[in-house]
This record gives sequence, C-alpha cells and structure tokens, in this order.
Amino acid sequence: MNSWTPAAVAAAALLACGAASAQFKSPDDAIEYRQGALAVMGHHFGQLGAMANGKIPYDAAAARTNAELVATLAKLPWTAFVDGSDKGETGAKPEIWSQRDKFNADAQRLQDNVARLLDAAKTGTPEALKAAFGPTAQACKSCHDDFRKKH
Ligand code: HEC
Repeated sequence: MNSWTPAAVAAAALLACGAASAQFKSPDDAIEYRQGALAVMGHHFGQLGAMANGKIPYDAAAARTNAELVATLAKLPWTAFVDGSDKGETGAKPEIWSQRDKFNADAQRLQDNVARLLDAAKTGTPEALKAAFGPTAQACKSCHDDFRKKH
C-alpha cells in the first residue's frame, strides 16, 4: 500500500522545505513582493480613508470588504524584508536591519490597529470607522517616518 517511492519522499521534502523557509528567489523578488503587498494594502486603506473623511459616501459593505483586505494584507510585507534587500529599487531604509526589534514592533502595532479597524468596520457605522481610521493611519506614518526613505 505504500506508494511513497524514495523519489516522491525527496520531492515532498523539497517542497516542504521551500515552504518552511517561505522564501524568495532573490532579494529583488522579496522587494517586489513586499512593495506589491504594500501598494495593494495602501489602495484598500485609501478607500477606507476616503469614507472616513467623507470624500466618498459611507458604504457599510464596502467598508467591511476593504477592512478585511487590509487586515489580511497587513500580515504580508514583513517577512519579505530579508537580508540583502536593503539595496536595489527600494524605499526601505537600512535602519530596518539595524533596528529590527523596533521595526517588528511597528509592524505589530499596525496589525493591532488594523484588527480594531476591522471590528469598527463590522459595526456598520461611519463614526466607528472614523474613530479607528486615524490611529491606524498614525501607525503607518510612524513606521514610514523611521523606516521608509523620503521621496
Ligand atoms: C512597519 C513599518 C511600516 C508600516 C507599519 C507601514 N509601512 Fe508602508 N512601507 C514601509 C516600508 C519600509 C516601505 C518601502 C518598501 C520598499 O520599497 O521596499 C513602505 C512602502 C509603502 C508603500 C509603497 C509601496 C510601493 O508601491 O512601492 C505604500 C503605498 C505604503 N507603504 C502604504 C502603507 C500604509 C497605507 C500603511 C498603513 C495601513 C503602511 N504602509 C504601514 C513600512 C511600513
């Protein structure tokens, strides 16, 4: 009954290994990945901001969808700040690597804020969204102030 040939076992081990190191073919790949995640997150966060600021009408279902996307996307960029990806086409400052604990704490603070933002969006009221949006935007800004190059 054992259909696991040695070759299949080796292949499975190789796949599992690739997943466990979760990693990127090159530093440039990692940069592209994190910038993509940040750009998409920024888009959906911007939609929430436009609603919170009254630039577009409040829509409870859209708010919830956007907040769910932001909550998922906010988990993604951080593991892509791999060694060697401080160089190239990136807005990342070298301080990310010299102050990693602070950077990780900023990433965690964002995720805590985004969880509250999602709770707020689920209430279906613009007031709750508005109250949660400001502190979340502040969490973006404080990391950008320290760890993202000005342009
Ligand atoms: C923990 C730090 C940190 C937090 C928190 C953070 N960012 Fe950033 N962000 C960065 C860094 C670093 C870059 C530059 C990445 C690069 O170019 O490699 C960046 C880049 C970006 C970009 C440009 C992506 C591109 O197209 O190249 C956008 C948009 C962005 N962030 C939006 C946001 C928004 C919106 C939030 C909050 C909801 C946020 N960020 C929170 C660190 C952070």
